Amino acid sequence: MAKSKTKGTATKGSKAKTSTATPAALKLAAAAPSAPRIDIGLDLADRKKIADGLSRFLADSYTLYLKTHNFHWNVTGPMFNALHTMFEAQYTEQWTALDEIAERIRALGFNAPGSYREFVALSSIAEEPGLTNSADWHEMVRQLVVGNEAVCRTARKVLDIADDADDAPTEDLLTQRLQTHEKYAWMLRSLLQ
Ligand SMILES: [Fe+2]
Repeated sequence: MAKSKTKGTATKGSKAKTSTATPAALKLAAAAPSAPRIDIGLDLADRKKIADGLSRFLADSYTLYLKTHNFHWNVTGPMFNALHTMFEAQYTEQWTALDEIAERIRALGFNAPGSYREFVALSSIAEEPGLTNSADWHEMVRQLVVGNEAVCRTARKVLDIADDADDAPTEDLLTQRLQTHEKYAWMLRSLLQ
């Protein structure tokens, strides 16, 4: 019953797309004060360039986060305990950072990418399947070294853009992420030396 109701509404909605708001809702919208224009001392073109860069950085960061979590789940072998724990510490910290990056994009006045499709399109890091042919632990660690370094390279590029625009909060955020990902790359590389 609920199914046919939804179907009916969708058909109606798609035919009469122009006037969905009631007269009362329109009146309320007209009376509400509109949001003021963003005026934080950075011009629109600079904010857009930085937000685009941060979107690519968010996509890289998200893809590396997911890969680290994937390897936490699927790692096997004599290094299981050490790597399972190390990967957990890294993906947990990365998860928190994703929120900071996305919210910086919002503060600059743009929407943050938020779907797997967008992240795959924007990321410079290739995904790794979890269900089949799971890599051995050496390959997992190697991929995470490469992934952390890719995140660092993207961070440096966006840092340059933010620096040109004197966007200190973005520079600060990216500097902190760089320190963290360079450290992860070193720790992970040490396992293979
Ligand atoms: Fe876990």
